Amino acid sequence: MLVPKEGSEGERRVAATPETVRRLIGKGVNVLVERGAGEAAGFADEAFAEEGAELMEADHGAWSEVDGVLCVRPPAPETLGRLRPGSLLVGLLAPHGASSLAEALVDRRASAIALELLPRISRAQSMDVLSSQANIAGYKAVLLAAAALDRYVPMLMTAAGTIQPARVLILGAGVAGLQALATARRLGGVVYVSDVRPAVKEQVESLGGRFIDPPAQEERPAEAGGYAREASESFLAAQRQQLAEQLALADMVICTAQVPGRPAPRLIDEAMLDGMRPGSVVVDLAVAQGGNCFGTVSGRTVIRRGVQLIGADALPSSVPNHASALYARNMACLIEHLLDAEGLRLDPADPILDDCLITHDGVCRREDILFPSRPEPVAAAG
Ligand code: NAI
Repeated sequence: MLVPKEGSEGERRVAATPETVRRLIGKGVNVLVERGAGEAAGFADEAFAEEGAELMEADHGAWSEVDGVLCVRPPAPETLGRLRPGSLLVGLLAPHGASSLAEALVDRRASAIALELLPRISRAQSMDVLSSQANIAGYKAVLLAAAALDRYVPMLMTAAGTIQPARVLILGAGVAGLQALATARRLGGVVYVSDVRPAVKEQVESLGGRFIDPPAQEERPAEAGGYAREASESFLAAQRQQLAEQLALADMVICTAQVPGRPAPRLIDEAMLDGMRPGSVVVDLAVAQGGNCFGTVSGRTVIRRGVQLIGADALPSSVPNHASALYARNMACLIEHLLDAEGLRLDPADPILDDCLITHDGVCRREDILFPSRPEPVAAAG
């Protein structure tokens, strides 16, 4: 198995840590680590070597020799071309509409697991990188907002009088939203949460949040596998109307509402921003999917009439040590699941792999995700 140094701009995580290298070597796997792979996450080359990893230069050509490559973000196209036929690539491969990735993998007859598509079933919980990374994003989003806010978060009683706690609004109560709620509560904020899935009301309340019921008179978006489906425009309009009042009262807004494979629901429009208090802060975690909030830009802070709009799309990478530690443990659990006495074994009928094994044996298995507009499967020539 090869652990490359991530090539994507700004990516500081690594797909294995000395701890998981030890674990994998204990299972009989040879682990090669590119020099500097863990540096940005606080894991030195020597620490990998001490656990038994073989260190190599990034341009050593190991891609064409190994049985598998463990990465965080999709590798560059020229690197994919070096994958050995029959080898396995595992990572967050951003599979939605990733037609050129699929073509390159099919062309190399490489197998690939897109961790975004891992099923949310109990057996796969220990491998669930979406959860481990979303948890970090929710936590860090609140810290960013608190640092940017012009007020205290907790209630304080001082000799100079009482300070009221900050009012926090969280849009979307999935993994990131619930962690944002828990973090904002730890800081002493009063937290309101909006989601379209009724099941989350109890979870929100158990963490000390106040749940905003979705607009009653409108039909709620359907659910599939625990995920919300895309809401109709009329539902979103009713939701925006309902949220406008909340926004006018909020000091911090954390946007986490998403619908897998679809643009994020637009929950805050221009007029709603106009009603916000100057000095308040919006952190939009959905910015890469189009954003929940009007005017947010990936990786930037935009100030609009005194309101700070933070487009936060790479928060797990900003906590690289723990983000890598958790990601690497998820990855090690998955690889251990795939190992048998002969080595790596990929059974496409395995319920854990069925959805997320996007290419295998020269075929793209998830045409619906990688080529959403193409009807026929892609097969390798020859
Ligand atoms: P996500 O990142 O896809 O979406 C975040 C939240 O946005 C969701 O709660 C969704 O309902 C909400 N949302 C969508 N449209 C909205 C709108 N118009 N207004 C307000 N909120 C809106 O979700 P995530 O964090 O990936 O979780 C999805 C599901 O997976 C949840 O049911 C969660 O409990 C479940 N899950 C299951 C796991 C397991 O069984 N292993 C592990 C982690 C999550």
